[in-house]
Amino acid sequence: MLERARATEIVASREAMATTGPLAESDQPLISYEQVGKTFETLQGDVVAVHDITLDVREGEFVTLVGPSGCGKSTLLNMAAGLFEPTTGTVRYRGSTVAPYNQRVGYMTQNDHLLPWRDVMGNVIVPLEIRRVPKREARDRVDDLLAKVGLKGFEKAYPSQLSGGMRKRCALARLLAYDPEALLMDEPFGALDAQLRLKMQIEIRDLAISLGKTAIFVTHDLDEAVSLADRCVVFTHRPGTIARVVDVPLPRERDLMKLRHNSTYRDLTAELWDLLSPDMDRMES
Ligand SMILES: Nc1ncnc2c1ncn2[C@@H]1O[C@H](COP(=O)(O)OP(=O)(O)OP(=O)(O)O)[C@@H](O)[C@H]1O
Ligand SMILES: [Mg+2]
Repeated sequence: MLERARATEIVASREAMATTGPLAESDQPLISYEQVGKTFETLQGDVVAVHDITLDVREGEFVTLVGPSGCGKSTLLNMAAGLFEPTTGTVRYRGSTVAPYNQRVGYMTQNDHLLPWRDVMGNVIVPLEIRRVPKREARDRVDDLLAKVGLKGFEKAYPSQLSGGMRKRCALARLLAYDPEALLMDEPFGALDAQLRLKMQIEIRDLAISLGKTAIFVTHDLDEAVSLADRCVVFTHRPGTIARVVDVPLPRERDLMKLRHNSTYRDLTAELWDLLSPDMDRMES
């Protein structure tokens, strides 16, 4: 039981781990995929998840990834996080091949992996404990983060006592605990209702911009893909290749509440629908 608990803590901390190192100024992209392919060997035969992906993500950019289920979006995040190696090509972080367990990124999966036996403070502090940050400093940092994500006053609440949105905020605070340079987020708001989702979208974009984070955000929601992005990458059906990279020429400081009245936004979401609809009947469920 203890081992299982520890293993879950390690998974949670890997999702949240990142470097505290200084940001190096450079023209290099932060994350780059160079002709990347990934094939999984399974008992049923080889599965080619992605093929020939070339993509640069610049520092401070907010990039969204959309595409049919099974086209390899999570696989691409896993490779940037150093959880999988590509079969062909190279994934680089600041110009160097991504190391196993890339500690410079924070990774938020669809499942928040909160530890049910720890309260909010206890969950958010996990990555700081693993890095042996002195207790007082770690608690101060967590207090600050909880205020940022709107969870002040809920330090002692357990995950079972939190609403869906509060759990996401808690996972977001843990993701930010190490001040990662880049945020990898895999459908983090998939299970939320429309209003809460919008609120979380506003928060994540504001936080990413105000803290100077680079973000790669996977979603199935085309409105979300446009409203959050500086650029949106659209993938084909598996094996995933890049169908189009769509620039989102909306202001960086944008009012997500009012976007649906914006014609650029409406045109772009329509463009994404048109790009993706031919793949709909081929989707893996
Ligand atoms: N560890 C693995 N072992 C074997 N096959 C895998 C593994 N991970 C992913 N795959 C396969 O690779 C393909 C791409 O999977 P991936 O999870 O990256 O897709 P996705 O675009 O994130 O899909 P979704 O939108 O449904 O989350 C799928 O066919 C999947 O079955
Ligand atoms: Mg996925």
